[in-house]
Amino acid sequence: MKPMRHRYRRNRRNDGIRRLVRETELSVNDLIYPMFVVEGSGIKKEISTMPGNYHLSIDCLVEEGRRLVDLGIPAVNLFGYCEDKDLKGTGAYNPDGLVQRALRALKADCPALYLQTDVALDPYTTTGHDGLVVDGEIVNDETVDVLCKQAVSHAEAGGDMITPSDMMDGRIGAIRDALDAAGYQDTAIMSYAAKYASCFYGPFRGALDSAPREGDKKTYQMDPANRREAVKEVTKDVEEGADVVMVKPALAYLDVIAEVRRAVDVPVAAYHVSGEYGMIMAAAEKGWLDLDRAMVEATLAIKRAGADMILTYFAPKLAEALA
Ligand code: PBG
Repeated sequence: MKPMRHRYRRNRRNDGIRRLVRETELSVNDLIYPMFVVEGSGIKKEISTMPGNYHLSIDCLVEEGRRLVDLGIPAVNLFGYCEDKDLKGTGAYNPDGLVQRALRALKADCPALYLQTDVALDPYTTTGHDGLVVDGEIVNDETVDVLCKQAVSHAEAGGDMITPSDMMDGRIGAIRDALDAAGYQDTAIMSYAAKYASCFYGPFRGALDSAPREGDKKTYQMDPANRREAVKEVTKDVEEGADVVMVKPALAYLDVIAEVRRAVDVPVAAYHVSGEYGMIMAAAEKGWLDLDRAMVEATLAIKRAGADMILTYFAPKLAEALA
């Protein structure tokens, strides 16, 4: 062989040099844990389609919250299981609703935890759509009015960051104005800006009984075939006042995360969603993958692509693995 000037393996020879040249570091500070709250007390019931994740009544949610603080996890994102759904999703902005009560309890008991809340109507509507349905259409502007009420009620209850996941047009600006008008200038917004009409939300919809009863979400969520459109969506949401923009799902959309990272200067979040979690869990259960290594590698890849923070059902397990 001819002499070689560059032998890249020199920088991989042992752990010391590998640590020195490492470009991306996963940290507990990157993690947001999505949680599912239900009515009742003393309830901690594993979600069958999302092993290791639970339906939690408020008392158990608070207990879990304390554990997350001990693990060093900075934030949670709350989803409520609504039992009395209706056509207009009125449960979404009930000042005494489940999520609103959960926020008050967490704020009181776990002040160190940063509280994000999901804003969208699908867990609250009998149609299972993120917006109001009129004559078979998901109506945009009327929906945005309801989302504003939901957002203000979450801010009132102690939510630190409102996270609209509905994909209606113009909702970020409208919610920003509504929060400001109600005196919540300091309540932040993380926009699900590039959210795709993905099959990977299946287990989540099972957990909240929120699958659309008719049709699909393709008239508001993005076509998985599109990348340039993601840049338009995030740019607009930043103009409208988003503090953080999100790409969702994550692992199947790493190119979108990278593109969005280059396009805007606000922090970028990525949601490693329920179906992506399920793929790893199911393969590990079959013995086809090593769970801990797959979990770390997948999450690291999302960060390497450009995500500053990651919503993941692995958060507690990752925090333990990284400790
Ligand atoms: C609904 C919402 C969904 C998720 C978060 N918010 C499902 C959907 O859009 O149908 C999915 C999260 C996951 O799959 O983990 N507004």
